[in-house]
Amino acid sequence: MKIYIVPQEQIGKLGGELIARQLQAKPDSVLGLATGSTPIPFYKEWISLVKQGKISFARARSFNLDEYVGLPGGHPQSYRTFMRENLLDHIDLPASASDIPNGQAKDLEAECRRYDKALEDIGGIDWQLLGIGHNGHIGFNEPGPSLTAGTHVVELAEETREANSRFFASIDEVPTQAITVGMGTILKARQIVLVAQGESKAGIVAEALTGPVTTELPASFLQLHGSVTVVLDEAAASKL
Ligand code: GLP
Repeated sequence: MKIYIVPQEQIGKLGGELIARQLQAKPDSVLGLATGSTPIPFYKEWISLVKQGKISFARARSFNLDEYVGLPGGHPQSYRTFMRENLLDHIDLPASASDIPNGQAKDLEAECRRYDKALEDIGGIDWQLLGIGHNGHIGFNEPGPSLTAGTHVVELAEETREANSRFFASIDEVPTQAITVGMGTILKARQIVLVAQGESKAGIVAEALTGPVTTELPASFLQLHGSVTVVLDEAAASKL
């Protein structure tokens, strides 16, 4: 595990270097992308690098980690909208090359199987970007007595709904369910980049990276992966 600790304002630049390296090595990379506030500095830098002609996503593919269940199409907080606004509308990745679970599917189980098949057909993820929830979730793989390997529907933990309610008018508007890729999909990614910022993540980051590997802290499973890069600002690294 390689850990970078950088000042907050340099997180984006490092994110640019990491993706540039990946796309140079494999222009047709399959990228696993994440939502939340954490990846935003990465995405801003990627957009800027594309505009400067320094990187290109023209041959890449992307698969997002997760999506809320039941938000109406075009809802400002759907992860589909988030990805369009914060990245996809501004880079040269063809629209047909990005996939995200459909949280409005009538048959959610069938949608999960579709997503797993698409991931399998393409040979899995080359480079997976992850944030971390305050309770140690990755994607929406919540802590519990067991974890699921494939894409599945999950009941969101109350603390996750509370944490994400800052983006909604009230907690009642935060969906109770989501579709997420499973831990198997994440851990099969050839490279994983975990990013965390801010003091509020310091405790869970330290536990995830140095504590016991447990389903009660899904991010702790990253300790078992052979190629993880962790990007932290000084605050998020303060308890390591
Ligand atoms: C959300 C997402 C995760 C994300 C996490 C942290 O619930 N499903 O993919 O990593 O919460 O979000 P943030 O980066 O805003 O702290």
